[in-house]
Amino acid sequence: MTPSPNDPTPQHPTPLTVGPAGLPPIPPRIARRWRARWDAQQQRYLPRRTERFEVITDALTLDIKRPDPLIVDLGVGPGSLALHLLDRIPGVRIIGVDADPFLLGLADAAREEAGLAPDRLRLVQADLRAPDVLDRPELPEPVHAWVSTTALHWMQHPDLQRLLRSLGAYTAPGGLVLDGDHIYHESKQALFDAFTIRLAGLDAERCGVHENEDWQQWWEAVAEVPEFAAHLAARDGVLEDRHGEHGPARLHHYEQALREAGFADVGTIWQYGDDRVLAARRFGAAPSAPGSRG
Ligand SMILES: C[S@@+](CC[C@H](N)C(=O)[O-])C[C@H]1O[C@@H](n2cnc3c(N)ncnc32)[C@H](O)[C@@H]1O
Repeated sequence: MTPSPNDPTPQHPTPLTVGPAGLPPIPPRIARRWRARWDAQQQRYLPRRTERFEVITDALTLDIKRPDPLIVDLGVGPGSLALHLLDRIPGVRIIGVDADPFLLGLADAAREEAGLAPDRLRLVQADLRAPDVLDRPELPEPVHAWVSTTALHWMQHPDLQRLLRSLGAYTAPGGLVLDGDHIYHESKQALFDAFTIRLAGLDAERCGVHENEDWQQWWEAVAEVPEFAAHLAARDGVLEDRHGEHGPARLHHYEQALREAGFADVGTIWQYGDDRVLAARRFGAAPSAPGSRG
């Protein structure tokens, strides 16, 4: 049965925390340091990353009126956005999905350290490219908003479009998609592709983050930490074949798939170069508290 937007909190018949199966927990004090290093590393590429988080948070707060929204973070990584939302939206419940058991391990340590109730942050290891990725008992319906940051651009457009098209069936009427990511221009125009690369570089210099540790340095440093050995072994090959024949998705790939999924309003609500927040809202009234609408 399809739940209505006024249904109370969905019931979870399955275990609440899935997490990186069979792996030892990462000690929270170690994880905390590496999450901070992750954020600095990501900021090298996205000087306005925190502003992007704020835009997503503001959009959720403005549009979703219910006190306990269920939000799914696609490509949650070590949990940066999820933790930001948990801090800013009191009753929010988040399911973080990611394929990487090590990054999920860092997020799991944050959950542990913050003493979050099991239904406030649940972590699910899954590959978003799998056609049935949303047909999982850990993903209860209805979802009030899907969020994502710097993750979906990893997917080739056929996989990305299949994922986006499948969101509609799991979304409450009026539910949102808010994706903060590198979303490229309509067609491969040299001028705009060059602009976006140069803009990000200039902005990073202006913000003083251009010399932060880079992606490769971060992963090389991670590989030296004995407490991470089991998680790193488990992530071997998990997303290795992500570069394929199709090239990155462009704006129209996102917009088209979301419209096909029943998201009526689709558009960019914030942008700097190719760094943008794409928003979409499903047909129907915005999710609100049970009993608060006629
Ligand atoms: C650059 S990181 C961003 C992580 C986090 N959202 C953030 O902003 O810090 C990209 C994330 O997307 C995840 N990811 C990429 N492709 C994926 C896929 N096909 N399935 C699941 N997770 C994926 C990666 O494992 C990684 O955690």
